[in-house]
Amino acid sequence: MNPAIEAIKSRRSVRKMKPDPPLTREQVETIIEAAVWAPNHYLTEPWRFVVLMGDERAKLGDAMSKALVATSSPTPEQLDIQRKRPLNASVIIALISSPKSDPKVVPQEEMVAAGAALQNMLLAAHSLGLGAMVRTGSHAYSEVIRKFFGMTEVERLVGLVYLGHILEPPPPGKRSGIAEKVTWRA
Ligand SMILES: Cc1cc2nc3c(=O)[nH]c(=O)nc-3n(C[C@H](O)[C@H](O)[C@H](O)COP(=O)(O)O)c2cc1C
Repeated sequence: MNPAIEAIKSRRSVRKMKPDPPLTREQVETIIEAAVWAPNHYLTEPWRFVVLMGDERAKLGDAMSKALVATSSPTPEQLDIQRKRPLNASVIIALISSPKSDPKVVPQEEMVAAGAALQNMLLAAHSLGLGAMVRTGSHAYSEVIRKFFGMTEVERLVGLVYLGHILEPPPPGKRSGIAEKVTWRA
C-alpha cells in the first residue's frame, strides 16, 4: 500500500501508554513541526502549542479535576482518574487554535486548519513509533483550563495530545464504509 495511506489507516489512539523513557526534545519538535505544515488559509498559522513535561503534567491533572468539579458532579474515582491520567504520558502537547483578527479571515477556517495540524501531530507520532492520543472532555473547554493555558478570548483548545510509549497495542480500528457517506454526482 502507498505509505502515506498505510500510515493514515494504521494510526490508532493509544490509550495505554507509559511515560518512560522521556521523549526527546527532537521527537517533540518533529511532532510540532509536522503540525505547522498543515494547510491554513492566508498562511495565518492559527495555532500555538504548550508542551507539558515533568511536574507540569501533574498540574494539568489538578486543573482537569478542578474543571470536572466546576462542570459536573464527579465521583471520587472520576476525580482520581483525571488527576493521575496525565502522568501516564511522557509529554502532553496542548494544541490551541489562535485565530488571526483580520476581516478577510473566516474563523471557521482557522479551526479547520488547527484540526489538520492535530492530525499531522498524530501521524508524526505514529511514524516515530510513539503512542499518541487526543484527550478532551467537555470540562477541557472550561474557564479553569482556559486560565491554565492563559488563553485569550478568541483562542480555543483543539486538543490535548498525549504522547508516550505504547504499553499495550490498541485494538484494530473501526470505520464504516464510505458508501453511505458519499454522493457521487456527474
Ligand atoms: C478533538 C478530539 C478529542 C478527543 N477526545 C477524546 C477523549 O476525551 N477521550 C477519548 O477517549 N478519546 C478522545 N478522542 C479520540 C477518539 O476517541 C478516537 O480518535 C476514536 O475513538 C477513534 O479511534 P482511533 O483514533 O484509534 O481511530 C478525541 C479525538 C478528537 C479528534
